[in-house]
Amino acid sequence: MTLNSPRGTKDFFGNDIKYRNFIINTARQLFSVYNYSEIITPAFEYTEVFSRSIGEGTDIVQKEMYTFLDKKGRSLTLRPEGTASVVRALIENKLYSDHLPVKLFYIGNMFRYERPQKGRMREFWQLGVESIGIGSSIIDAEVIWLLNSFFKQLGFRNLILFVNSIGCSRCRVKYILEFKKYLKPFKGELCFDCRNRIDSNPLRIFDCKKDGCRKILEDSPKIQSFICSECKDHFEGVLNFLKILEINYKVNPNLVRGFDYYTKTIFEIISSDIKSAQNALGGGGRYDDLINQFGGPDIPATGFAIGIDRTLMLMKQQNINFDIKKEGPKVYVIVMDKNYQSFALEVVKFLRDKNFACDINFMIKNLSSELKWAEKNSYNFAVIIGEDEVNTGNITIKDIDKFKQYKINWKSQKDKIIKLIWSEE
Ligand code: HAM
Repeated sequence: MTLNSPRGTKDFFGNDIKYRNFIINTARQLFSVYNYSEIITPAFEYTEVFSRSIGEGTDIVQKEMYTFLDKKGRSLTLRPEGTASVVRALIENKLYSDHLPVKLFYIGNMFRYERPQKGRMREFWQLGVESIGIGSSIIDAEVIWLLNSFFKQLGFRNLILFVNSIGCSRCRVKYILEFKKYLKPFKGELCFDCRNRIDSNPLRIFDCKKDGCRKILEDSPKIQSFICSECKDHFEGVLNFLKILEINYKVNPNLVRGFDYYTKTIFEIISSDIKSAQNALGGGGRYDDLINQFGGPDIPATGFAIGIDRTLMLMKQQNINFDIKKEGPKVYVIVMDKNYQSFALEVVKFLRDKNFACDINFMIKNLSSELKWAEKNSYNFAVIIGEDEVNTGNITIKDIDKFKQYKINWKSQKDKIIKLIWSEE
């Protein structure tokens, strides 16, 4: 019996690795331009880290966490997201004690026990940033700017940036009272999950994709009418900065997001080209109370996370190509007989010492099938080492892209080999 990977997980190899590395390298470079530095936290934490921050009533905590007891009976959870872990690490390592804001980014795999479908995995990868310590709206704008720049730099089209404010914890209390009052007569018409959410977490009803529930929400009171003047000013400040930065956005009063820790500004970037419900490429928001709730200082924060898997999927779907040749020319050394392998190794060593990506045929087949393989695998040059080459000392170099062939003396013309290969660039 063959073994399969668990449902909702994925192996990455071949071209996907190239896309993935391109996405990650673009992010790393951009994050450093915006002055974020990297943090690596464990892939699992004590369960409380997530239940206390994301919220007991959320879908993630109620249904989606991979939670298990270790051998000493302690409850651990594979991280379903990065923010809670970063906040835990910030407090534990007192990273806030120097300069504020503390600007951190992370790249990591996350785990959620969701029903797998296109763009929704049980193990998925995120790139995230957290900007901790400053409450003013200019930081919200900077974080949204970074999210927007990332997708712009990848060359994405047809993206929509939704923004909303869900106010602070004080204004939300008033809103939730009104919202519950509004929902009461519709209780029987809501789906099973949303009926339960009325008491446990009414804002989550905005996440429901069922038509019946969405219809009921159309005329519901909206949080905007309940936010206090401070939250209102804050949100207007964010929108104003976004205008100055020439970032297109849509205020979406139905945007709530699935975590309890959010306050004030929240945002999400979606692609209208992804037809499934899982069309959010990234999202985030402010969480001004979380650090204090975790026993840290009373400092505000904001951040976002981007789904690497969905970004990769959309890059392929939109045929967004990046120049694979940027990696430099690739050379394939084809040796025609076992007895010539030491000569071939000398050539490979020389090329690798000069940092050329190159490989050798470890299984000796015929020349034409080796050349075909080299072409198919994006090699730019083939170096052929056969009987003639060994006898004369002149190696054959085939420029696969330009259909040209050269004979170069191995002992006396090594510089010529380098020049020839670099001329490909
Ligand atoms: P999130 O919206 O849950 O936010 O996740 C961010 C992104 O991760 C989503 O937009 C999506 O692209 C991707 N994603 C989420 N779940 C899955 C899944 N099951 N399969 C594939 N991709 C998925 C957060 O995680 C917050 N921690 C963001 C944040 C940072 N807020 C403040 N700071």
